[in-house]
Amino acid sequence: MSVRRVIVCAGGGDVAPWRAAFEALVPGVEVLDTPDGRGCDFAAVWAPSRAWLAALGPVRAVFSLGAGVDHLAPVLDALRGVPVVRIEDAGMADQMVECAMLAALSTQRRAHTYAAQQRSSRWEKHPVIARAAMPVAVLGLGALGGPVARALADFGYPVQGWSRRLRAIEGVRCFAGREGLREALSTAMVAVNLLPLTDATRALFDREVLGWMPRGATFVNLARGAHVVDDDLRALLEAGHLAHAVLDVFEREPLDAQSPWWTHPAVTITPHIAARSIPEACAAQMVEKFARLDAGLAVGGLVDPDAGY
Ligand code: NAP
Ligand code: GLV
Repeated sequence: MSVRRVIVCAGGGDVAPWRAAFEALVPGVEVLDTPDGRGCDFAAVWAPSRAWLAALGPVRAVFSLGAGVDHLAPVLDALRGVPVVRIEDAGMADQMVECAMLAALSTQRRAHTYAAQQRSSRWEKHPVIARAAMPVAVLGLGALGGPVARALADFGYPVQGWSRRLRAIEGVRCFAGREGLREALSTAMVAVNLLPLTDATRALFDREVLGWMPRGATFVNLARGAHVVDDDLRALLEAGHLAHAVLDVFEREPLDAQSPWWTHPAVTITPHIAARSIPEACAAQMVEKFARLDAGLAVGGLVDPDAGY
């Protein structure tokens, strides 16, 4: 059955690009942006409140407008019985590859060191680091972490990947479990976090875990701010154990103007732009997955409420 009516909650963002994407894809589709009692086929949401969901009425599926579903964690129980589906890739994996590659290359080519030297007019050369001598850990090997690990390995970095279930990715040494995390991090000069935020991964990167990285390493957080214990990260940067952190995400966004991260000399900040949802690609994926659900077929990205992703 084709989609007739969709409701979008953009979590304070602009609904217009989503409306345009659905309308271009499904002629005649009605796109609502506030619950009004009319039955919708599915809801496409980012951070809906409980009140918004309570007013929604029955839908046959709920799609996240992005890859992450942590914004739905508080309402997953209320949604039991309704399939909740996350976006898989839809143009985000390429963006993540670019971000992770930028961070890896910046470390390998000492971009942060040379930028600091330029600010103090200092002409000083440092030894070359070969790609083969710069191991990179990719934490989370899913729709985004998988392509990131493969791209970094294809480029010539030794890559160590970590996931919940042990994965097999050509050219990547794969690990699982806490000991596996320790092993993956213990030689990594760059670690890229691409885990979902769940009960099992919240505050995972504390003093102990970040301390497993070798002295002088770079931590890159492209997933969620709440994965990291900020005070522990700051302490390791200030002790010089970690040389740099690339932070795209923060526990509270937008990052407060008073946050000490803004001016920290060993931190690079971006405003949660590592991989942005592309409405046209995401809408096409939702419509296709909805048709499969409707036909009783399996879909990828189905959220397991017990695992939280
Ligand atoms: P995904 O396909 O669900 O992959 C998640 C990966 O993490 C899987 O490999 C999974 O293991 C692993 N994992 C989950 N829980 C774990 C645990 N407790 N221990 C070890 N590994 C664990 O997710 P995705 O599409 O790649 O997205 C990842 C995250 O990126 C999203 O949840 C979101 O927070 C973030 N994100 C950020 C941006 C941004 O702009 N900054 C944009 C998009 C997404 P298995 O392979 O065993 O399942
Ligand atoms: C963005 O952070 C997403 O989860 O898609």
